[in-house]
Amino acid sequence: MNPVKLVAFAGSTRSGSFNKQLVQIAAAAAREAGAEVTCVDLRDLALPLFDQDLEAASGLPENAKKFKALLRESDGFLISSPEYNSSVTAVLKNALDWVSRAESDEEPSLAAFRGKAAALFSASPGGLGGLRGLVHLRSILGNIGMLVLPDQIAISTAHEAFDESGQLKDPRKAAQVADLARSLVVFLAKHKVA
Ligand SMILES: Cc1cc2nc3c(=O)[nH]c(=O)nc-3n(C[C@H](O)[C@H](O)[C@H](O)COP(=O)(O)O)c2cc1C
Repeated sequence: MNPVKLVAFAGSTRSGSFNKQLVQIAAAAAREAGAEVTCVDLRDLALPLFDQDLEAASGLPENAKKFKALLRESDGFLISSPEYNSSVTAVLKNALDWVSRAESDEEPSLAAFRGKAAALFSASPGGLGGLRGLVHLRSILGNIGMLVLPDQIAISTAHEAFDESGQLKDPRKAAQVADLARSLVVFLAKHKVA
């Protein structure tokens, strides 16, 4: 059986992003559980704002194609995203929008998403930990064909939650994050055909 393949990314491009730290913690736990995890920093993709005229003129940007290919080859995603004004961040939605586009008539619809599963995390200095954004993200991913694990982790007061090495100070929260990442690997391993 091939290992479960995951792509891990955060819905923030900020240097020192709490969500980048959180998704790294989840990725490490998924690797320990046997998954192959590729981490992507959306900043590195530098995707332009989605514009259908741009798409008509030049197709998908090279980095959107690469990201889509990576997602297509994967079994699922680990996503940690802050909420901006109580919803998903523009950078995350923009990446999902580019990747949702087919490059030919033969390409199956929503090929990067359908039949895959995701585990969701968030972190915010606020009291809700970005939870409201996850409600919207869950809905978006479900509508584009993904199965999203019912559990999710929102880390509140994120500015106090991580130590200098990017680990969660609270061992209980760290265990919850690792458990959710492991659950995704176990779920996908059970449902993997080959
Ligand atoms: C435009 C904008 C809107 C924000 N809205 C919210 C919000 O609705 N809820 C919240 O908890 N934090 C909000 N924040 C604060 C972010 O949670 C905070 O900047 C966080 O550190 C971003 O995540 P990151 O550390 O992964 O970059 C907002 C920040 C920005 C820049």
